[in-house]
Amino acid sequence: METLFTYTGAKKIVFGRGALDRLPEFTAELNGKKPLVVMDGSLARSGLSRRVSLLLEGAGAAPVLYDAIEGEPELEKADEGARIALENRCDVVVGIGGGSAMDAAKAMAAVAGNGARAVDFLGLNRIPGPGLPTVMIPTTAGTGSEVTFTAVFIRKDLKKKEGMNSPYLYPQVALLDPLLTLGLPSMPTATTGMDALCHAIESYTSVNASPMSALVSLEAIRLIGANLRTAVHDGGNLAAREAMLLGSLYAGLGLANAGVTAVHSLSYPLGGRFGVPHGLANTVLLPAVMEYNIPGALEKFTRVAEALGEETSGLPLREAAWLAVEAVSGLIRDCAVPMGLEGLGVKEEDFPSLAEVAMTVARPLANNPCKVTAGDAVNIYRQAF
Ligand SMILES: [Fe+2]
Repeated sequence: METLFTYTGAKKIVFGRGALDRLPEFTAELNGKKPLVVMDGSLARSGLSRRVSLLLEGAGAAPVLYDAIEGEPELEKADEGARIALENRCDVVVGIGGGSAMDAAKAMAAVAGNGARAVDFLGLNRIPGPGLPTVMIPTTAGTGSEVTFTAVFIRKDLKKKEGMNSPYLYPQVALLDPLLTLGLPSMPTATTGMDALCHAIESYTSVNASPMSALVSLEAIRLIGANLRTAVHDGGNLAAREAMLLGSLYAGLGLANAGVTAVHSLSYPLGGRFGVPHGLANTVLLPAVMEYNIPGALEKFTRVAEALGEETSGLPLREAAWLAVEAVSGLIRDCAVPMGLEGLGVKEEDFPSLAEVAMTVARPLANNPCKVTAGDAVNIYRQAF
């Protein structure tokens, strides 16, 4: 039998306003009496750690807080958190925050459950068995980490980013509460929202897309295209925040099942070497990669343009597909995200070495609808300059 597709994600997805209040129900379902709660430091200081602790304690659990995540995590944090989980005999890991906190929490659960070191798990399928069960709660819309099998880290020693990919990183529960995203300032709202749009467009145009992943990817494009401007400029608008969180969830499912493409490969070295935040690096590259990819996926980019509200009827296919780039560029401008690599401290002479590193991020490149060589990558960086 020929397999048409497989489809995976978090085992259970719970979405709704106020869903956070149900956290104790889900940790209890996982037999968790001592949750390790992993959180960004700034989020913990905002009072959210106290709220989560009270919730869990109210249900008879004894949470242990780890809030030493500031920005994109170093690999050592995964070992540190796992050590704290083991010392305290934690039996479930709850990750709350953006991709950084959730990725760190997923890795801590894997390291603690397997009695290993995080460095041994870098790469594809290196985790030998199940870790501690996990509940992931995003506060940005977002990385989609709550439904993916990936955890990405900064290697300060090597000046690069590296990731773990394993089915054992899939969370047991993704708990999505739009109320938690209301307080996010406009710039991280814009860059994390654009990261989600990258996941949606890249997974939709991936050569690995399936009929089922395409459904969620395209709906993610529509939701994000229709709501990101409002979420950025009117952050208290709950309907827009809710649609963005749903869009980033769908985009995460698209990413988990179809993979991403060249945007994520080319953005990796920008994060590793220049410290450019993930969402911002992707945003700057997205229009240039789309332009490059259009000849390999004319029909799909036409659907992307339509999902972003462009009128394509009567247009030749190539012109219709190009409207997708215009729509995305307009969205980036409207959300006031800085455009251009030049403004991020990158110089033209850096392109060949950036391209060399990007070529090593091979899995997303293999998904790209057009083949990308190191020379092509240099041209894309130049286009995004
Ligand atoms: Fe991403």
